[in-house]
Amino acid sequence: MKKFFTAIFSAFMILLLTACGSSNAAQMDTQSKTLVVFFSANGHTAELAKNLSATIGADLFEITPKVEYTSADLDWHNEKSRSSVEMKDEKARPEITGKIENFDSYNTIILAYPIWWDMEPRIVDTFLESYNFTGKTIVPICTSGGSGIENSQSHVQKICPAATWKNGKRFSASTSKDDLKKWYDKL
Ligand SMILES: Cc1cc2nc3c(=O)[nH]c(=O)nc-3n(C[C@H](O)[C@H](O)[C@H](O)COP(=O)(O)O)c2cc1C
Repeated sequence: MKKFFTAIFSAFMILLLTACGSSNAAQMDTQSKTLVVFFSANGHTAELAKNLSATIGADLFEITPKVEYTSADLDWHNEKSRSSVEMKDEKARPEITGKIENFDSYNTIILAYPIWWDMEPRIVDTFLESYNFTGKTIVPICTSGGSGIENSQSHVQKICPAATWKNGKRFSASTSKDDLKKWYDKL
């Protein structure tokens, strides 16, 4: 009789442990993993993105141009500067160096960029055309001299219709970590 109860008890414990194991695995599978991706030519968007990723515990990836932007390239008073020429050409796709490792493991991407001519810099479009965003959620955020995110938001959505887009927001580069956390928690 004692052997019988021991056997029943052992079987029960094995079932219990197996059930616990699989529910943990299921939790891991459904856990959302966020990546903060940013492009920054002068450091403002980098500051925002770094603060955000540190605050929410997300990984960080910088969109690095193959050819760095010089200050002459960024001169918007000069219609022949590299940024002016790129922004006038809807099809311009400046090359990026480097790739996101384990892209498949992320389901949410926060995409941070500066506003150029009321738009996202074309290199952001290069980024959006470099990966398959099916099944991913993207949240755009930006820094700017004052322009809002709206025009760029509709444009990035057009460039990358495969993603699920959430409404983005313009931030000042020095937004506090507290405010960033509050915004993220409400997403
Ligand atoms: C080529 C160029 C065009 C810009 N166009 C705009 C604009 O249309 N509206 C705006 O508010 N700020 C504009 N800015 C200002 C930047 O959006 C702002 O300084 C931003 O925070 C820079 O980010 P970064 O330091 O990460 O590059 C422009 C800056 C550059 C270099």
